[in-house]
Amino acid sequence: MRQLLSDLLLFSRVASRPEPFKGIDLAKIAREAADVFEATIKETGAQVEIETMPGVEADGNQILRLFQNLIGNALKFRGPDKPRIMIYAKRDRSGVCEIFVKDNGIGFDPQFAELIFRPFQRLHGRNEFEGTGMGLAICRKIVERHGGNISARSEPGKGSTFIIRLPVKQDRWEGV
Ligand SMILES: Nc1ncnc2c1ncn2[C@@H]1O[C@H](COP(=O)(O)OP(=O)(O)OP(=O)(O)O)[C@@H](O)[C@H]1O
Ligand SMILES: [Mg+2]
Repeated sequence: MRQLLSDLLLFSRVASRPEPFKGIDLAKIAREAADVFEATIKETGAQVEIETMPGVEADGNQILRLFQNLIGNALKFRGPDKPRIMIYAKRDRSGVCEIFVKDNGIGFDPQFAELIFRPFQRLHGRNEFEGTGMGLAICRKIVERHGGNISARSEPGKGSTFIIRLPVKQDRWEGV
């Protein structure tokens, strides 16, 4: 219940109480996000590989939250094999940074790849996996506030990849 309330509060504040955008180090923030799950990573023997990534102008706290949600999901929806999470990015010619968060977890039916970003939408059983279904809705709101987009690719049993496209430069320093 407490988690749900704090998620709802965060969801409503993503755009209304923004911090200004600054140059950030995506890899450093991703590592910080992974550190939150240190215990689970140890317990499951998970491998988290974070590559060097291009610099972007963003709200560091929101990007931290974004990676925490995605890494948390990758560990929660892990499959029978040791979890392997890869985070890497490339910059395309149009000045967009494309970030990939890839796991080898249980995956999901690709027909639900859009649905999962809606608030409270969950594909896997409440009894089996904890959560309220707000994580990805918050992720989408954060990415959209940065003028980017987020999508997912998956297949049952074959892992999932979340793709975040973020502008490298922001001209809206005040936020939305
Ligand atoms: N990496 C993943 N692998 C497989 N399924 C996923 C993955 N990430 C998300 N999903 C599916 O998408 C649903 C929505 O994800 P979301 O993060 O919004 O909610 P949650 O993790 O269930 O709860 P919360 O994030 O609020 O704790 C999940 O319940 C799950 O069914
Ligand atoms: Mg989640």
